[in-house]
Amino acid sequence: MSAEIYFNPWDEAYRANPYPYYEPLYERPPYLLNMFIPMALVARYADAAAIMADHERFSSVPPMSPFLAERIVVFGDASRVVFSDPPVHTRLRKLVSKAFTPKRIRDLEPRIREFTATLLERAARKGEFEVMADLANPLPVMVIAEMLGVPQDDYEKFKHLSDAVIESDNTPPGVPLPAYVKDAFGALRAYFIAEIEERRRNPGTDLVSALVTARDEAESLSEEELIAFVVLLLLAGNETTTNLIGNGMLALGRNPDQLARLRREPAMIGRAIEELLRYDGPVQATARYPKIDLEVDGVALKAGMPTFIIVAAANRDPAHFANPGRLDLAREPNDHLAFGDGIHYCLGAALARMEGAIAIAAALERFTRLKLADATGRR
Ligand code: HEM
Repeated sequence: MSAEIYFNPWDEAYRANPYPYYEPLYERPPYLLNMFIPMALVARYADAAAIMADHERFSSVPPMSPFLAERIVVFGDASRVVFSDPPVHTRLRKLVSKAFTPKRIRDLEPRIREFTATLLERAARKGEFEVMADLANPLPVMVIAEMLGVPQDDYEKFKHLSDAVIESDNTPPGVPLPAYVKDAFGALRAYFIAEIEERRRNPGTDLVSALVTARDEAESLSEEELIAFVVLLLLAGNETTTNLIGNGMLALGRNPDQLARLRREPAMIGRAIEELLRYDGPVQATARYPKIDLEVDGVALKAGMPTFIIVAAANRDPAHFANPGRLDLAREPNDHLAFGDGIHYCLGAALARMEGAIAIAAALERFTRLKLADATGRR
């Protein structure tokens, strides 16, 4: 007998631990439900991977809705790489990939180590290490500010505006975007318009300068697309990496045998990060929209119907991973879908992996007797 399906990502119990709610979804093909509008849930690994590989039939462009219309008023409607299909996606991805090179990511490594050491030192002086406030929240914004070439003096302002813009991602449908989000976006936009002008006159080695010079005659990146990309980096690269560090440390705290193993074998940090991404990844789901009426595993999906690909569920599909609910830092192979798949595969994956590995390894090294505090903050 199959268990009842419950899906409400705004429910506190679901948010605290979504995984039990995914169990009944593994028994069936995409599940249709009505949540504001008709939609489909995809939890099985094979279905999730097949849909993400099929950009010919599944679009990444959300159909117009009151939710989207409000965001367009605030953020503009310039194409964003993650919400686009070929040929627009091909043009944007090629341009931003020119600037987002493996060398640029590697060059960031010493700065990420410095930022991490500074943050951990500050926590040590306090005598208490609160993973989210002391490390997971500040580090990704510092790294993106560095990558964009935001001067140190502007850092506090940048962090404040970024935090407000990131909040827009947590506003559920039907709830208007708070005024401070709109104001922050306006200020961030004005800030980057001035910065773009400045980099045009005095190009540096930062990502904004590289994006400005990456514009070529035939395939230019418009000013609005460039600003949209900077905002996308804030949204796509910040909270995700924060969650990798936060969820990762929590998973280690709850699995002392695995934590002890990582302490004994620090060289396994790369594999450990892959397992932490699989076990409780930073992104629960992404969406696709069928371009035509079609079928997946015998289930009819209507054109334009939001199809939620729950990558976090696929990463625990027992048909794909042995003993999926167990954290096994040495798991091999580990072809998780935490960074998506297909043409939209995460552009920041190498950066996120490096940042997560540096942060978690440094925290374990700096604090040799870490213990999880309970929900009340007691150790
Ligand atoms: C652990 C951290 C991260 C996770 C789990 C993650 C996850 C994802 C996923 C699942 C997608 C695919 C979305 C889709 O197919 O609809 C994606 C795309 C993307 N990510 Fe990440 N991300 C992370 C960090 C970052 C960072 C640090 C950056 C940049 C600084 C970044 C930039 C992007 C961009 C630009 C895309 C769109 C790529 C495209 O559409 O071609 N991400 N990410």
